[in-house]
Amino acid sequence: MRKLTHKFEGSNPTWVRRASKDEDLVDVTCDALDELIIEDQRFIAERLTGEPIIGTPVSIITASSQELPLATDSVDLILTSPPYLTRIDYAVAYSRELAILGVNIAEDRTLRAALMGTTLIRKQPNSGATPYGRVATDLVEKVATHKSKASSGYYLKQTRQYLDDLIASFDEIARVAKDDAVMKLVVQDSYYKDIPVPLADICVEEAERRGWKFRDWDKTEVSRLLTQVNKAARAYSKGKVEETVIILQRRSR
Ligand SMILES: C[S@@+](CC[C@H](N)C(=O)[O-])C[C@H]1O[C@@H](n2cnc3c(N)ncnc32)[C@H](O)[C@@H]1O
Repeated sequence: MRKLTHKFEGSNPTWVRRASKDEDLVDVTCDALDELIIEDQRFIAERLTGEPIIGTPVSIITASSQELPLATDSVDLILTSPPYLTRIDYAVAYSRELAILGVNIAEDRTLRAALMGTTLIRKQPNSGATPYGRVATDLVEKVATHKSKASSGYYLKQTRQYLDDLIASFDEIARVAKDDAVMKLVVQDSYYKDIPVPLADICVEEAERRGWKFRDWDKTEVSRLLTQVNKAARAYSKGKVEETVIILQRRSR
């Protein structure tokens, strides 16, 4: 699907154009489609060669991190990479995959609005009542008082909505985790205009406030930033940003 729709991609990898005329629509024969699927299967099979296969039955359940269909105190390990505060709208980024699954995000905004990090602001009043830790509160204050247009309006709402989703997920993960469970989290810091968004620090602080102990982290500098692609964002000078693997452990209750 990605190969077939490559011509709709622009410089920003998350936004893809939609066909405006019938001539632009992708026309593909079943044989050509089958061939692409077989090619990808071969690629995946080659990558898996030599990997140990564990013979234990596996169940895959899909759900929002804010409402996990799992029993309280039942999980040993959490391995996750949540959306970052970078304005990547995952339903938009995966609009083509979703289209194949029958979800047209242009007509039905339910999924897009529900995802963490969405650029849509939900209807529910976001009163700002959620008490954040020191690092997240500092970020909210900096966004609220930034002199640029819409900082105290739209962008403040989006920042709070993101933090509220992050915190609701941490609450839910803390519920399902067993005592001493380990959580490995991959997050990337970013910038809102010239304001650093220290997401790794925010995650550690918010997790600690919810019964997790910080164990270790490993930082890698990120070289290619989406913000360098966006002209408006380039107007503000930015420092380097890092991707962090954070390791936390659930305190015994
Ligand atoms: C930084 S990406 C991680 C991608 C992942 N490492 C992978 O290889 O697929 C964040 C992912 O979180 C998903 N997501 C957004 N909101 C979520 C939620 N409330 N619950 C669970 N996943 C969510 C996004 O759709 C996106 O796929």
